[in-house]
Amino acid sequence: MSTIILGIESSCDDTSAAVIRNGYLLSNVIAGQAVHEAYGGVVPELASRAHQQNIVPVVHEALKRAGVRKEELSAVAFTRGPGLMGSLLVGVSFAKGFARSLNLPLIDVNHLSAHVLAHFIKEKDELHTAPEFPFLCLLVSGGNSQIILVRSYNDMEILGQTIDDAAGEAIDKCSKVMGLGYPGGPIIDRLARQGNPKAFTFNKPHIAGLDYSFSGLKTSFLYSLRDWLKEDPDFIQNHLNDLAASLEYTVVEILMDKLRKAARQYKIRQVAVAGGVSANNGLRQAFREHADKYGWEIFIPKFGYTTDNAAMIAMTGYFKYQDRDFCPIDLPAYSRVTL
Ligand code: KG4
Repeated sequence: MSTIILGIESSCDDTSAAVIRNGYLLSNVIAGQAVHEAYGGVVPELASRAHQQNIVPVVHEALKRAGVRKEELSAVAFTRGPGLMGSLLVGVSFAKGFARSLNLPLIDVNHLSAHVLAHFIKEKDELHTAPEFPFLCLLVSGGNSQIILVRSYNDMEILGQTIDDAAGEAIDKCSKVMGLGYPGGPIIDRLARQGNPKAFTFNKPHIAGLDYSFSGLKTSFLYSLRDWLKEDPDFIQNHLNDLAASLEYTVVEILMDKLRKAARQYKIRQVAVAGGVSANNGLRQAFREHADKYGWEIFIPKFGYTTDNAAMIAMTGYFKYQDRDFCPIDLPAYSRVTL
């Protein structure tokens, strides 16, 4: 008999629903929210409202594209947290009502572990290689920068994490200082391809162990820029590509230095990357270079699974379904939680 999981994601500013049958992805529908662009960041109240408008059509579309009737579903998996509370509540409430109306079990999913488990999403007719346990995963997004030891789908340990800003947050803030749009990550990535990564040097942190810090880089970038602008008011326009390339290079170096250290310390050579910043071309290139140089077996997600999506929620739900790891209907959403 088939196991068919409906996944629902609404933790930030993407409303998404996906259907997975026996571990294979049938559909993954994502509705983004352009409304935030004008504000240079996600406005929580606007995000919740947009989720409310999107959730029903997105779920309907996901079932339609999958060719699955709702009566055929085995369970409903939903993002419980972390995320914006107002956004989470839309997905959590919908999932609960939907599951109750069909008498289906509910599966709560931690958004962070789902990013890691995105590596297990299989698409039909695709030759797919998933990492084997244990492996290391660098989870880098707008809210997180963590090195995770993944022992199994439900046994993950954070070996190191940022003590202040996340990598994506630092990139976004530096990009904002240069007057670029939001989110800055993809813009910096695009500009960096044309620039010299060694044109400028910014401070790298000296943090013990496997933890990260990105606030110093942000300050270093800001102060350097302030000094250069005194000399040349058009400094940003004149050096945009080099600034982007040098910033990206520094962030990637900081990330890879600690990841290398973790791989050495834990004697693990299967290394994955996940989260929004894993879309970055400089970071992807660094992973490929490490594979060549250190014999790592690397796992880089498809672009579509780097940012928030429900396919990873359904995938995690599929794993939990095997263990009948269901949750009660009165389980609350949580905005702050770790793995
Ligand atoms: O995982 P994600 O979609 O969402 C949350 O953090 O909630 O990550 C978003 C982050 C943003 O900081 C964005 O600027 C960054 O991922 N990002 C990138 C790229 N694409 C997205 N950073 C660098 N290069 C990219 N190509």
